[in-house]
Amino acid sequence: MADHTFLPETHRVLQLTSTREPLQLQVVPTPQPGPGSAIVKVLAASVLSYSEDIYNGKRQYPFPIPFVPGASAIGRIVALGPDATTLTVGQLVYLDCTIRGRDNPTEAVILSGIIEGFTESSRKLMHSEWRNSTYAEYTKFPLENCIPLNERRLLGSVDTGGLGYRVEDLMHISRLLVPYGGLDDVGLKPGETVIIAPATGPFGSAAVRVALALGAGRVIAMGRNKTALGQLSVLDNRISTVEITGNEQTETEALRKLGPIDVFFDISPPMAAESTHLKSAVTSLRHGGRISLMGGVSEYRSFPYASFMHRNLTMKGTWMFSRQQILSFVKLVESGLLPLDEKSGMSVAGKFRLDEWAEAFKKARVVQSGEVVVIEP
Ligand SMILES: NC(=O)c1ccc[n+]([C@@H]2O[C@H](COP(=O)([O-])OP(=O)(O)OC[C@H]3O[C@@H](n4cnc5c(N)ncnc54)[C@H](OP(=O)(O)O)[C@@H]3O)[C@@H](O)[C@H]2O)c1
Repeated sequence: MADHTFLPETHRVLQLTSTREPLQLQVVPTPQPGPGSAIVKVLAASVLSYSEDIYNGKRQYPFPIPFVPGASAIGRIVALGPDATTLTVGQLVYLDCTIRGRDNPTEAVILSGIIEGFTESSRKLMHSEWRNSTYAEYTKFPLENCIPLNERRLLGSVDTGGLGYRVEDLMHISRLLVPYGGLDDVGLKPGETVIIAPATGPFGSAAVRVALALGAGRVIAMGRNKTALGQLSVLDNRISTVEITGNEQTETEALRKLGPIDVFFDISPPMAAESTHLKSAVTSLRHGGRISLMGGVSEYRSFPYASFMHRNLTMKGTWMFSRQQILSFVKLVESGLLPLDEKSGMSVAGKFRLDEWAEAFKKARVVQSGEVVVIEP
């Protein structure tokens, strides 16, 4: 028997029927729980800065059509499949959009609501059971993607030992978790110096915050936008900035003055495929330094092969993060070491209903460092 509270027969969702058509608000049957899944009432779902380009086809992300788009979200469990052992109805959870095939968790990977991945098995996963995502009142998610959150600690008032966050503040988790995956994979240690580039976008600026929370001794934020770099540098006196000028030599000289540099974290968008920072950052690393690649670039213009090899550098690609990394990350947030509130420069730049999706996408495109936009179905 499934464990559940009241589930309405129908609910409202956003449907994508074609990348040439706007999203449509529709009323459809509410999903039902089955073995291995939970039904979650979506309280706040995240919006990417490039959401518009995903759903209008510009980014050419593959996904099944029609489907309910979405992204990671915060929700409350309303129904559980019969094999749920620990999750409970009513529990506050983080819905991780990285859904993995249970019989092939390394190759069958989709980002729910965003992309069907790049293998035949990932495609199969998104075209069947896990087609629909979180831009909906209710969503069905795998049990293992429902990450329990300590509601009393996170949402409780400060005078009762809580951190005093609002539900929508928890949406910063989706931004911060991405760089946490890459920085953890290359083992960033307290006291080390790390370059984050570009550091002025939503995930780049999140990486700066994560590196600080992990105890980096110096965080070098690289970017083209001087104003945005200036705004970042006031966050903490461990932050230094280096401008991406298009001149590899001046960038390298500026970086080396701040060395020795242990780690370089790259989160370039596709538009930065020609940027000079990759070469200047790689050539500025100390002997034995580590590189984390998490960007969306298909191919870089040139790579300093000999310099990489002579200094015994290591490079690791990371798509999203593991479940274990999410659990560790949630502990970091619940400890208060990685704050999500306005006092720490984090804010919710906009909250939008399902039918306001176009405004949400527009607002998300221009978010500043530390800002998120959420859809509250
Ligand atoms: N590996 C993963 O799991 C994962 C997860 C999520 C996202 N991503 C990737 O991460 C990328 C970054 O995401 P985002 O949301 O932070 O940012 P974004 O909105 O995709 O890109 C904005 C950032 O890129 C910089 N930029 C744009 N064009 C540039 C150029 N020609 N040269 C140098 N810098 C340039 C911007 O700098 P200015 O301020 O100077 O404009 C800003 O810092 C995404 O495009 C996505 O593909 C990867």
